[in-house]
Amino acid sequence: MDNRPIGFFDSGLGGLTCIPPLMKRLPEEKIIYFGDTARTPYGSKAISTIKGFSMEIADFLVKCNVKMIVIACNTVSATCVGELRKKFPDIPILGIIEPAARQVASECDADNQVGIIGTKVTIASHAYKDMIHEINDTLNINENACPAFVPLIEEGIIENDIMDLTIKYYMDEFVKNNHLDTVILGCTHYPLIKKNIERLYPQLNIINPSSIIVNRIEEILKDGDMFAKDSECQNVFYASDLSENFLNMIDHIFAEEADDAKVKFLNFDLENEFVKQGK
Ligand code: DGL
Repeated sequence: MDNRPIGFFDSGLGGLTCIPPLMKRLPEEKIIYFGDTARTPYGSKAISTIKGFSMEIADFLVKCNVKMIVIACNTVSATCVGELRKKFPDIPILGIIEPAARQVASECDADNQVGIIGTKVTIASHAYKDMIHEINDTLNINENACPAFVPLIEEGIIENDIMDLTIKYYMDEFVKNNHLDTVILGCTHYPLIKKNIERLYPQLNIINPSSIIVNRIEEILKDGDMFAKDSECQNVFYASDLSENFLNMIDHIFAEEADDAKVKFLNFDLENEFVKQGK
């Protein structure tokens, strides 16, 4: 048994999409989440910048005494997972790409046309494609960067014509020209526009890594005998800019799941500590 919380981080609010599936599957587990809302988006930045930010946040989570770090960000998982593991060898560090890549590699075959959408950095890294091909090199993989999705989602522009037009701008030709039947949401922000994508392309089988990662978290906890039981820790959500959007999105994502009595929201400046408390 290990009652310490699980640490999650993302460039912003996208990684929050991993939390409801986790709370449903493993309700005893407690969470510390860090969203780097002040410096989002990561997906168009230099890899050296992303590495620097990720190291700072992982260091913060380790100091919070988490039992595992989940990189709830494809951009960081695609570029920094090896170095994070090297820098923090004593704690399990799980990237979001591998569990989904494994699932697609085992469930799809050469008859499928698989598409991956993500940030510029994730797509340029070919992390999904390479990992899938390591397991099953017969799969047809097509990749497309959709850099305008994250800023719109961070602004809360979701159930809206602007979002639908943006999706069509990036995806119409990508889906049509490659005859896609499967699409991997290769950015943790994208499950927030899954309904829009389903409505626009009902023929697609949509793969959501934010749900799939829970299977791997459960396996790691089981193998290490690390499940929590009656933990007295609180769920805490930190943001480097505790904006109204971030708080609104938490309401949107958690709807009924969040138990307000156990959730604390704190604005966290990596240099100046806590400056504001929300909710
Ligand atoms: N949610 C992140 C991802 O999964 C990062 C998006 C961004 O900051 O550009 O890639």
